[in-house]
Amino acid sequence: MTFDVHAFRAREFPWAEAGEAIYLDHASTGPLPQRTRDEIAAFGLKRAEPFRLSNDDYFPTFERARNAAARLLNVSPRTIALMSNTSHGVNLAARALPYGPGDVVLSVHGEFPANVYPWIIAARRRGAEHRLLPLVNGRPDEAALMHAIETDPRVKVVALSWVSFWSGYRFDLAAIGAACRARGIYFVVDAIQGLGPLTIDLANTPVDIFACGTQKWLLSPWGTGFTYVRDELISELEPEEIGWASQASSGDFGRFLDYDPTFHDDARRFEVITLDFVHFSAMAESLGLFLEIGPQVIADRVRLLADRAVAFADAHPEVALITPVDPAQRAGVLSFRTVDVPATSERLRLGKVTHTVREGCIRLSPHFYNTNAELDAALELLLS
Ligand SMILES: Cc1ncc(COP(=O)(O)O)c(C=O)c1O
Repeated sequence: MTFDVHAFRAREFPWAEAGEAIYLDHASTGPLPQRTRDEIAAFGLKRAEPFRLSNDDYFPTFERARNAAARLLNVSPRTIALMSNTSHGVNLAARALPYGPGDVVLSVHGEFPANVYPWIIAARRRGAEHRLLPLVNGRPDEAALMHAIETDPRVKVVALSWVSFWSGYRFDLAAIGAACRARGIYFVVDAIQGLGPLTIDLANTPVDIFACGTQKWLLSPWGTGFTYVRDELISELEPEEIGWASQASSGDFGRFLDYDPTFHDDARRFEVITLDFVHFSAMAESLGLFLEIGPQVIADRVRLLADRAVAFADAHPEVALITPVDPAQRAGVLSFRTVDVPATSERLRLGKVTHTVREGCIRLSPHFYNTNAELDAALELLLS
């Protein structure tokens, strides 16, 4: 099936098709597709007048969201914990994984703080070392990272963002994960800037914990996300935060007062509910859209847009592309240094191009429904 971008935009993002904005800021906040907005409106009405809610609106909503996330990752729904953002998943990893005095949690400079502070604090509390490898020429040094994994027996955890929020650098999860797995090192991934523009098959990629907010590239409401925990690891990890529904007995609403502290044997043990049913229902709609179009179709379109930006920077020396040229090392985040970044940003703003300035660079983050014409218009505005 070919993807008709204009028909899609007219249906799901009419404001984009009408030219109200050129939205190239998915690395900040994803817009909500029309179907998701409709779901929020319909469910929101029921929420406001709860006598209209049925049992089906409660826990089955979470199962729809969980199933959609699991399909996107090619894993069992057992391994998915619904969470309100990425940071909860990173905290789960930092607080529940077994590492202790003298052990090293390895990461790199340039990480978004969501994948830094939880580790600094958790490592300090345990007498472990949180080590950030320096960037080399503004890029993570994957060879140095691999060397540390392969030669330093104190490394117990590796924690990385799949794709950098500012440079767009993409790590090779399969290679790093395989090196970690071979040495019994836990591999934790902050996936929020990767999933959507990229696909992943976690059944065949050695990642232990994969935390992903869905509010950006997955076009879902704020306060929604999920964390995958490798199945074999689930029963080994005791949640630090305990909710009334992390216990298996809570499945039976007739047994509340048994106080049976036996965790679920699946990733629901890491959920601390009540989560927002309205917005998780909306998230299920948005993820459903990815599954319907096809995650690979979406990834291919983002890749073509990024290729176009790379070719543009190549043809215009006054625009320096910070993001790697190699398609294997990038995704949807595209970062540029221009002659005068504040002036460029103002030009983009006047041209109705939604973008962000990060780390002194212009960040454009196009998604699959953006058109070549939209991207070209934005790229032209990078020129002084
Ligand atoms: C790499 C990365 N991790 C995490 C986040 C956000 O974390 P959370 O979903 O917990 O708000 C962002 C963006 O804000 C990000 O770019």
